[in-house]
Amino acid sequence: MGGALAAKAAAIFNVIAGPETSAPAGATGAAGKIEIHGLSRSFKPKGNAAIRGERFFALRDFNLEINRGEFITIVGPSGCGKSTLLDLLIGLSRPDEGQILIDGKPVNGPAFDRGIVLQGYALFPWRTVRRNVEFGLEIKGTPGKERRAKSDHFIKLVDLVGFENHYPHELSGGMQQRVAIARALAYDPEVLLMDEPFAAVDAQTRETMQDEILAIWEKTGKTIIFVTHSIEEAVVLADRVAVMSRQPGAVKTVVTVNLPRPRRIGDVRNTVEFGDLTSRVWELLQDKEPAVLAYQSGAGI
Ligand SMILES: Nc1ncnc2c1ncn2[C@@H]1O[C@H](COP(=O)(O)OP(=O)(O)O)[C@@H](O)[C@H]1O
Ligand SMILES: [Mg+2]
Repeated sequence: MGGALAAKAAAIFNVIAGPETSAPAGATGAAGKIEIHGLSRSFKPKGNAAIRGERFFALRDFNLEINRGEFITIVGPSGCGKSTLLDLLIGLSRPDEGQILIDGKPVNGPAFDRGIVLQGYALFPWRTVRRNVEFGLEIKGTPGKERRAKSDHFIKLVDLVGFENHYPHELSGGMQQRVAIARALAYDPEVLLMDEPFAAVDAQTRETMQDEILAIWEKTGKTIIFVTHSIEEAVVLADRVAVMSRQPGAVKTVVTVNLPRPRRIGDVRNTVEFGDLTSRVWELLQDKEPAVLAYQSGAGI
């Protein structure tokens, strides 16, 4: 799995390096507003549905607006289309219908305005921590001295000072994911896209990582879209939780989280408000819809 993820990360960076898709980052100063309108994405199904000429809709009419600097979590059952949505946000795949605008500009492919942290670690195993963190900067053509200063800054931000020359296999899972976060932040994207980034680390490390990403968000002011299937994680991190319905995936309800900021998991976990919010999201997720809706005629798409 690690190899495939590293390949995916390399693919994203390589596309970014291409002249057609690279957009100047931070051009507007106050950036990172995301508008997702009427997004649908289908795949060719297998079996009888394929014979009938139908398409399988992983997402259908997905709508969401995300403010600059907002921390939004997207929660939904396995297979509801969360990673499909992330791939569209990254620009790795194209929607059948609808569009995604970032600061008013349509997403046409991967670019430096978005940083990506995938499930698992997706690091380049042949590169040290520092050279992983500097990878995007190398592609961007950032001069060596500036690159070094930036990697120093972000390695410090994720608390990995002293590990600059280690290779990924010499680090724990949590440390590897912190390298991935530093790599994504190093080229200063407006938006950080995270797909179940802490799913592969143990429970205790996961809580530490949640606190760390909250602290990083407070310091950097990035817009964060964080996909998870953990209800607690979704609530503890977010300004708003978008709860997805499944088959086809769409936003069912958006729950506003008014827990105080700055927020740390230990401060909120045992509060009545946190319990109420997690129960609400849990109830929304129980409300199942018939799976048959996912298969629809492909005509007109
Ligand atoms: N490339 C693909 N080809 C066919 N079906 C796919 C493809 N990618 C995802 N799907 C299907 O779309 C649905 C949503 O998948 P995914 O976005 O990975 O869900 P999640 O990340 O929420 O677990 C699943 O039923 C999955 O099998
Ligand atoms: Mg997924």
